[in-house]
Amino acid sequence: MLAGKKILLAVSGSIAAYKAALIVRILMKGQAEVRVIMTENAKKFVTPTTLSTLSKQPVYTSFYKNDSEEWHNHVALGIWADVLIIAPASAHTLSKMAQGICDNFLLSVFLSARCPVYFAPAMDLDMLAHPATQKNINLLVSRGNHLIASDVGDLASGLNGKGRMAAPETIIKILEAHFKIGAFYNKKVLITSGPTYEALDSVRFIGNHSSGKMGYALALLFAKKGAQVVFISGPVKNYPIHPNIKVIKVTSADEMMEVCKNQYVDIDFAVFAAAVADYKPSKTFDKKHKKDGTPLNITLIENPDIAREIGKLKTEKQLHIGFALETNDGEVSAKLKIKRKNFDLIVLNSLKDPGVNFGGDTNKITIFDPFDKEISFELKHKKEVAQDIVKIIESYA
Ligand code: C5P
Repeated sequence: MLAGKKILLAVSGSIAAYKAALIVRILMKGQAEVRVIMTENAKKFVTPTTLSTLSKQPVYTSFYKNDSEEWHNHVALGIWADVLIIAPASAHTLSKMAQGICDNFLLSVFLSARCPVYFAPAMDLDMLAHPATQKNINLLVSRGNHLIASDVGDLASGLNGKGRMAAPETIIKILEAHFKIGAFYNKKVLITSGPTYEALDSVRFIGNHSSGKMGYALALLFAKKGAQVVFISGPVKNYPIHPNIKVIKVTSADEMMEVCKNQYVDIDFAVFAAAVADYKPSKTFDKKHKKDGTPLNITLIENPDIAREIGKLKTEKQLHIGFALETNDGEVSAKLKIKRKNFDLIVLNSLKDPGVNFGGDTNKITIFDPFDKEISFELKHKKEVAQDIVKIIESYA
């Protein structure tokens, strides 16, 4: 996951600086490209030679190359990096970052970096708890920098409390999660959602109780992870609003089918969360049909199976996720649908489970893949269910 990622590690002056060596070693093992910046004070705790040997690159310690007149290009370095991580971030460096002071190379790179910035404070407990430090941390976080919280434990001062730099392993996990979030960055996701209404006449329809809440939660989550979402929805109360979400409102299954076919261009992930009506009336009355004292027989014919039709277009590069809402034999039906509709994953919700009902806020799901792997989750709010689903999709992406 870290292979080929460009990671800029900035080390400031704290006893925790020696842990930078371990961070570099783990990153290099993961085949990341690492460049290291050190402040003058950091050099007192770990040598540039150590970090240069481990990263197989010269370490940046000043504006100038080997004390010559030739200067290091801080702007290029800030643009080169996929992520900048300041670990350890001393109270001194934190305060200068918050104030925009630029009196060393680390700070000039921080100010010119275009990539996400993570910082891992390391200091004595009272320094960390001081309102000035807390204000600086909050200011940095409010500007979009990511805090890697300090740990509680024995401190260099001999005291015990919160202030230790997060363990190198924790920092690496956070970086891995950062790049995993990127699995959806700029990817195109098509989502069908909500019910479909099948017109009987100009005022009546056959429909179902789907609220579209599951599709809504999924769309927002994908969008927040940087995906471009095409949200094709039947009639519901609420539609997701986000700059990355294009909402296309439809009414019937035929319309949804048509829109899906047109929108299925360069799609990376397709999530079929709509509760599409299986049947539609064979004929629709143009006007409101009036009763005439005789029984009205309506013949229902099958609607197109959108997931199945689009499933025929799927290539190796695309991932399709379907839903199955079952009242009985859920597992058997879900597994059959995976094959029939060419899904890569299917999310089963069983209406037999307490708390699972059409239109409700909670859901209890089991996810199956075509290789009979299954993962079951507890009853949860649909927002959390969406997180579980997206996490599983990520692990298959
Ligand atoms: O066959 P069933 O309706 O149970 O299949 C459910 C899955 O297929 C869901 O992912 C649903 O969105 C999709 N589907 C569809 N078009 C249909 C019926 C279901 O896309 N006509």
